[in-house]
Amino acid sequence: MRTIVVTGGAVGIGRATAERFRADGDAVVITGRREELLVKAAAEMGATPVVCDATDPEQVERLVRELPERVDVLVNNAGGNADLDRPDGDLRQLKANWIANLEANLISAVLTTTGLAPRLTTAVVHLGSIAGARSGSGSYGASKAALGLWSADVAAELGPRGITSNVVAPGFTAETEFFRGKLSDERRQMLLAATLTKREGQVGDIADTIHFLTTPAARHITGQLLHVNGGAHTTR
Ligand SMILES: NC(=O)c1ccc[n+]([C@@H]2O[C@H](COP(=O)([O-])OP(=O)(O)OC[C@H]3O[C@@H](n4cnc5c(N)ncnc54)[C@H](OP(=O)(O)O)[C@@H]3O)[C@@H](O)[C@H]2O)c1
Repeated sequence: MRTIVVTGGAVGIGRATAERFRADGDAVVITGRREELLVKAAAEMGATPVVCDATDPEQVERLVRELPERVDVLVNNAGGNADLDRPDGDLRQLKANWIANLEANLISAVLTTTGLAPRLTTAVVHLGSIAGARSGSGSYGASKAALGLWSADVAAELGPRGITSNVVAPGFTAETEFFRGKLSDERRQMLLAATLTKREGQVGDIADTIHFLTTPAARHITGQLLHVNGGAHTTR
């Protein structure tokens, strides 16, 4: 039995990932900011909930203190587009929006990975995005692109201990709170049409890929970014 930590594990991709590891009988810790939601989700899947805002150093330190001495896998899933519905306004607002996305998607992973690094044994998987591979998503895409680069530093640092660090970059994935209920049918159809497989990504698609990257079969894969988007963005 392994011990797995999934940040933002109560809903969406994080929840599907936590459930995938639970299906193996692993001990899973899920985190998030909304306590009630987190506790309910944890009870439903047999995981351990720890309330933690991954952008807050004190809360991450508290999380680390509550975790066992050995953590096999960390999934840095917490994140999202923090300025999805915040207009840029003046430069002060613009700066706040950029910092919010860098905190949500980059700093959250940096703090959690650094805090947990001494206890890790096997793998770190970070959630990137198709938005980090092409222009058009402003501060959100930039924050995911930065996460992808930094993950390779983690791979170099932890590699000598046999620990891998990779990014899984989803395209549009249904069954999540990512769009906060504001995804129009028209936009959804556009996202579907952009795939080569003509199917919508499901949270299980992402969870299965994350799980694979933590298995012995993936032991020689590190410092990589793996797109999971039905071909909506290809690397060649
Ligand atoms: N859905 C997509 O189409 C898509 C595409 C590409 C990439 N992604 C990425 O995939 C990851 C998961 O997204 P999702 O689609 O599953 O979104 P989601 O349904 O909105 O779930 C996000 C989860 O992260 C948690 N979270 C957010 N900020 C946090 C923080 N500061 N500290 C701790 N937990 C935090 C949320 O819980 P609380 O609010 O309770 O904290 C929630 O459990 C994100 O990194 C996202 O950027 C998603």
